[in-house]
Amino acid sequence: MSVVVLVVIVIISLAWARRRRRRRRKRAIGPELPTTVAPPQTLNVVPVWEIEAPTMESIIQDLAKKKPVRFKAQQLRSFTTNYSTRLGSGGFGIVYKGQFPNGVKIAVKVLNRKSNNRGAEEQFMAEVSTIGRTYHINLVRLYGFCHDNFMSALVYEYMENRSLDKHLFSDTQAIEREKLHEIAIGIAKGIAYLHEECQPRVIHYDIKPGNVLLDANFSPKVADFGLAKLCNRDDTHDSPEGYRGTPGYSAPEFLLKNYPITDKCDVYSFGMLLFEIVGRRRNTKVGADESLDWFPKQVWNEFEKGKLGEMALLSCGIKENNREEAERMAMVALWCVQELPHARPPMSVVVKMLEGEVEVKPPPRPFNYLYSDYTSSEETNTYLYKDTTSIMANSKIQMASSS
Ligand SMILES: Nc1ncnc2c1ncn2[C@@H]1O[C@H](COP(=O)(O)OP(=O)(O)OP(=O)(O)O)[C@@H](O)[C@H]1O
Ligand SMILES: [Mg+2]
Repeated sequence: MSVVVLVVIVIISLAWARRRRRRRRKRAIGPELPTTVAPPQTLNVVPVWEIEAPTMESIIQDLAKKKPVRFKAQQLRSFTTNYSTRLGSGGFGIVYKGQFPNGVKIAVKVLNRKSNNRGAEEQFMAEVSTIGRTYHINLVRLYGFCHDNFMSALVYEYMENRSLDKHLFSDTQAIEREKLHEIAIGIAKGIAYLHEECQPRVIHYDIKPGNVLLDANFSPKVADFGLAKLCNRDDTHDSPEGYRGTPGYSAPEFLLKNYPITDKCDVYSFGMLLFEIVGRRRNTKVGADESLDWFPKQVWNEFEKGKLGEMALLSCGIKENNREEAERMAMVALWCVQELPHARPPMSVVVKMLEGEVEVKPPPRPFNYLYSDYTSSEETNTYLYKDTTSIMANSKIQMASSS
């Protein structure tokens, strides 16, 4: 009997020791760095690590908990091998390629600083906290940040296939039409999450193909959300008059000042991006004789003539089997760019429209401000779409004639 008990005890101890060994192995993902870890500071964003302190293990644990990690400038210098590979630059700063010691690739965006005072640091932490809390398959993940007297930077997941514009407007056109449709839906889902599920809600202000990044499988992730509040832009994207975003994508209310700025400015920019996806071209082209070729207006003209399908086939090189999808995307785009912000659908509805879950109703004329009979439009009184799903059968969205 006692031999049986002894054997059972030995088996249990061996199994326990084996389990412990496995667990320890699992935790040791990256090479160990020095191990003194400073206590987390009280800012509600992240535990803040002392300079020599963080171990890769603790960093990875924080990442797994979806908390952005605070890095020191010298760590970023090491991760980017002294900022040796530049990926590009934009209105917020310069982006460099890097790698964590465990091999995970990163993109480090070194930001133009707003100012150096204490308030600015608090604001930076608050905004990083917001960005760090947003977690969605169609949003670029923020791994961490750096903020000291000399620099502010954000550390993002590296996106293998870079930004959508590089593929959309290149001559090789490697992305299939079906994939482009999936990409459009993914982008719409990412923005819908920012607008409708995040707490606090986030308006992007700069939706455009350059701010959509593609991972190794060409799945889209929206980049640069939350940055508008975080730092100053050094170019035309942000003016003292309150103009925000990139010309060509930015909603008319920024210039016309006829309506308040709401999340519907992102819906407008998404519409402009959608035209570019359908046309696989930049919306604006200037001809040799300086004539302006503006694709969204062409789409509207063809839609009015009932020839959207033909246009899709002829001028956009779309094949017959993608024609219906292209027509639908073009109609959704026309809805998104309505002058009246509240006539533009919310992004969750845009997702449903693109997915074909709801029938897209004929859009009213957009770009009214371009016509000579322009008066600030309050006349739109129409349905965005006809709901054909049983769940939403009673919830057609009717747009108010005026707010
Ligand atoms: N996470 C990332 N992974 C891979 N490449 C990236 C990443 N973030 C940015 N890039 C590259 O860096 C380039 C510059 O990005 P950046 O956001 O600074 O400029 P932009 O998107 O052109 O303009 P904006 O300032 O309006 O965002 C992008 O075009 C993209 O190719
Ligand atoms: Mg960008």
